[in-house]
Amino acid sequence: MSQQQERYDYLRKRAEEKFEIVQEFQRKGLVCLDGDFVPSVHYPPITQYPPVTQEFILGDYTVPQDGKIDIYVHIPFCERRCLFCHYPGKLGSQTEEKNKYLSYLEREIDLYLDVLGISKIKPRSILLGGGTPTYLTPKQLEYFLKFLTDRIDMSSCAQFNVDLDPNSIMDEDGMERMRIMKAYGVDRLTVGVQSLNDEVLKCMNRGHDAKRAIQALERSMDMGYQVNAEFIYGHPGQTFENWVDVVDQAVQLPAHELQFYRLKVQAYGDLQGAIINNRRNSDAIPIPDFKETMMMKQASYDILEENGFHENLRRVFSRQRKIFSHYAYNQCCNLFDQIGFGITAFSSYRDRFALNTQSFEEYYDKIDRGLLPVNRGYKRDTEQQARWAIVLPMKNRDVRKADYKRVTGLDFDKVFIKKTERLKRNGLLTDDGKTVSLTPVGKFLADEVVEQYNANEFQPFPRSNYAEGELNPYLDNTTEDAIGDAE
Ligand SMILES: C[S@@+](CC[C@H](N)C(=O)[O-])C[C@H]1O[C@@H](n2cnc3c(N)ncnc32)[C@H](O)[C@@H]1O
Ligand code: SF4
Repeated sequence: MSQQQERYDYLRKRAEEKFEIVQEFQRKGLVCLDGDFVPSVHYPPITQYPPVTQEFILGDYTVPQDGKIDIYVHIPFCERRCLFCHYPGKLGSQTEEKNKYLSYLEREIDLYLDVLGISKIKPRSILLGGGTPTYLTPKQLEYFLKFLTDRIDMSSCAQFNVDLDPNSIMDEDGMERMRIMKAYGVDRLTVGVQSLNDEVLKCMNRGHDAKRAIQALERSMDMGYQVNAEFIYGHPGQTFENWVDVVDQAVQLPAHELQFYRLKVQAYGDLQGAIINNRRNSDAIPIPDFKETMMMKQASYDILEENGFHENLRRVFSRQRKIFSHYAYNQCCNLFDQIGFGITAFSSYRDRFALNTQSFEEYYDKIDRGLLPVNRGYKRDTEQQARWAIVLPMKNRDVRKADYKRVTGLDFDKVFIKKTERLKRNGLLTDDGKTVSLTPVGKFLADEVVEQYNANEFQPFPRSNYAEGELNPYLDNTTEDAIGDAE
């Protein structure tokens, strides 16, 4: 037997053992019966926010005492549409549309400054995402970064990240974009590598092959950026073996961080991407099943561990502990305020969320009328605060009891007593008195564990999709179970 075959067999055996554990948790009601999942990126999930007015969300909002608010800006343009992607956006060069969008973005930021009564925003970190911010022309990118940074006090900004696809930083224009981003203080790049298998990349409808993705990473490293490379597993065209090959190469890449997403087939936002056809249409390349996908996940954990990587934030791995996304850490672990500009952008303010419109027309129309483009949102009461302040930090790192008290005013030991005890008893959580953390198995099933703390109306799936075992998320989940006499 070849050495490579022995390696596949070794990793497959470990992954099969892990899948047996996952099945045990399926029988207990933790993991849903068909194995589907919803990533807990916000709580409550954004699709469930009702329509709101600007007055409702921001009427009584005040900027935090230290004046700091992190910034997200959404640039909804891409070269082409990837098979797996659910994000709305316009495709192709769209030069005029991009110019128009940028001029409205500038006006949106000014409207916000007016509403908040400040002259500049003071972020701890900035994230530019999309879409593909670097799909702007170099001239547009410079115009955008200039008007954005003119309205920002950068003195407390510890990280400025841009999400991009490899093609947009190659060739001469790409080089020019890299220089412009550096000049405006960008210091971290999140590069969508997605796979290092050319057949899979083709199936994803990516515009680059593995070689070009690696060149993009090399260029990013050479120019002194902190580099995060993103991958997807469970995608059509992938097998356990070809995924192992990809992860084996990924750990050798010129990158500081590796981020692994499990393919989400059913959209968790409003727009459903084309990938759903691979589930519905028997002629399409099949999507790996639940077992194969979980086994791919376990193989990545094993290979990353063999190579000295730590999971600094959930699903993001680095050899150095101090390297991670400040934006994600601030929003999801520290629960700091954050403001989002651009269509679909999301803002998180202390006890409420706001979501900008998904429609270009509504976006332009509202700004023309001097209104913020917010159209949905949610204000959390004490119970929902108690849930939110567990779901996000636990999913991404851990719950520090002192922070929980600071944010919610509640004592962690007095909330969700039955649920937390059960999760500990089942080996999914540990508690050292000050901090509650996921165990290794808990980390593997992080979304499912934290969704135990979702209110029943915000569970990702109906009760009938879970076994009626002791970890069914609907159990012991009333307001009384949640906050009881903690108030
Ligand atoms: C909003 S995308 C932007 C990245 C950039 N435009 C690119 O394509 O390289 C951020 C990342 O989310 C991940 N992603 C997007 N759609 C996904 C899906 N349906 N399931 C899992 N991960 C997904 C991809 O790894 C992607 O790089
Ligand atoms: S994955 Fe990135 S490049 Fe592909 S369609 Fe989505 S946002 Fe655009």
